[in-house]
Amino acid sequence: MGYPHAPHPRETTVLSKYFGDRDAIGLDGWRKRGGYVAFEKALGMTPAEIVGVVKDSGLRGRGGAGFPTGLKWSFMKPGDGKPHYLCCNADESEPGTFKDREIMRWTPHALIEGCAIGAYAIGAETAYIYIRGEFTEPLERMEAAVREARAAGVIGPNAMGTGKRVDVWVHKGAGAYICGEETALMNSLEGRRGNPRIKPPFPAVAGVFGQPTTINNVETLAAVPHILNNGAEWYKKMARADNPKSTGTKLWSVCGNIARPGNYEVEMGFPFKDFLYDLCGGPPPGRKFKAVIPGGSSVPIMNMEEAEAALMDYEGMVAKGSMLGSAGCIVIDDAQCMVKQIARLARFYAHESCAQCTQCREGTAWATKIMERIEAGEGTMADLDTLLEIGDNMTGKTICVLSDSCAVPIASGIQKWRDEFEAHIKGKRCPFRAAAAA
Ligand SMILES: Cc1cc2nc3c(=O)[nH]c(=O)nc-3n(C[C@H](O)[C@H](O)[C@H](O)COP(=O)(O)O)c2cc1C
Repeated sequence: MGYPHAPHPRETTVLSKYFGDRDAIGLDGWRKRGGYVAFEKALGMTPAEIVGVVKDSGLRGRGGAGFPTGLKWSFMKPGDGKPHYLCCNADESEPGTFKDREIMRWTPHALIEGCAIGAYAIGAETAYIYIRGEFTEPLERMEAAVREARAAGVIGPNAMGTGKRVDVWVHKGAGAYICGEETALMNSLEGRRGNPRIKPPFPAVAGVFGQPTTINNVETLAAVPHILNNGAEWYKKMARADNPKSTGTKLWSVCGNIARPGNYEVEMGFPFKDFLYDLCGGPPPGRKFKAVIPGGSSVPIMNMEEAEAALMDYEGMVAKGSMLGSAGCIVIDDAQCMVKQIARLARFYAHESCAQCTQCREGTAWATKIMERIEAGEGTMADLDTLLEIGDNMTGKTICVLSDSCAVPIASGIQKWRDEFEAHIKGKRCPFRAAAAA
């Protein structure tokens, strides 16, 4: 029995191959497993060559938006005379998402190597890993690994003995969801309040300390050494034959009402139905699946007809009405109240809003109040229209998309489970709570 489940035969373990392997955590063990070979190779290439390989691989950002990584790196103009920075986004606070945490716990050197290659490719001498404040163990492991890598001369002023400076620093956040938004992250890193910045200017023009900056997710950067070692063609093959836009493997965090929760790594395009029933073991005994939030709490909620027909890549999830997002999959069974689940999500966003934009500050709080009123059996039919109207005002109108993230699950919930909302309103109580009490 491996970590915390033995890999399923249908998993493709690239990033998760050494999860649970204590010997892979330290530098010696990591080197024995092929660690830092890719970085050495990268230092012998020009930055433009590395960007070219990453572009060819089709790698897209794993932090949520799926932006092509090589293209993002190419926005960093070489020779502009300015210091460049790489920021690794290790804030991982999206409800349902816990994959970056495991990369950092088990393979901290994989992330350092990805950061070092990324920094070199964008002309940066410094990479910061901005890590979520509550991640005590991953933080300790990352800090220890950085110390080891620096002491061994892998990173630092003379990285790998090449005379090139590539350094990596770990910066601990204070535990705020909003600091995962890339410009809020940069403000926080600079010691300011973690409020998102208005764009433009985009980070590649004026990012951290006002200098050109690239921000990438942990999983994105951890994939880069594998791409350099095995080539862009190898990476591109891990895709659906009819969809070359999503390539490679993807880590999926699975939680909620499911037999075997955990992290799973599958190739892009894997059938979602097989994933839920075969890999993750289906619903708990005596229950049926009712809904799935596939991409972290910010994406539209899928009913099972949609989920069971979906393919697990960026386009496959959009085709069935949702998004891949951060691939934090929350599974809800038929014993759960959708109104209660959605009210809880709304409360999360209201709590985490930075309060900078009126639509978000007021909208998330107002929507939460209404959702909780309906859940308590005190709502009216007019509340449903009000929720949709507030949601409309919260979408596409703010500095960042936290506000949209609150509105989206509410709208999909009302659209797909209107009967449950109406049952609360007409019956003046939660039918699920009543059934449980009976
Ligand atoms: C409210 C909010 C929270 C976010 N949290 C995270 C996070 O915890 N980790 C992350 O990688 N991206 C997060 N993002 C997305 C980042 O802004 C950014 O798109 C991402 O780090 C870019 O990296 P990638 O291109 O490798 O995906 C968040 C975005 C928003 C709006």
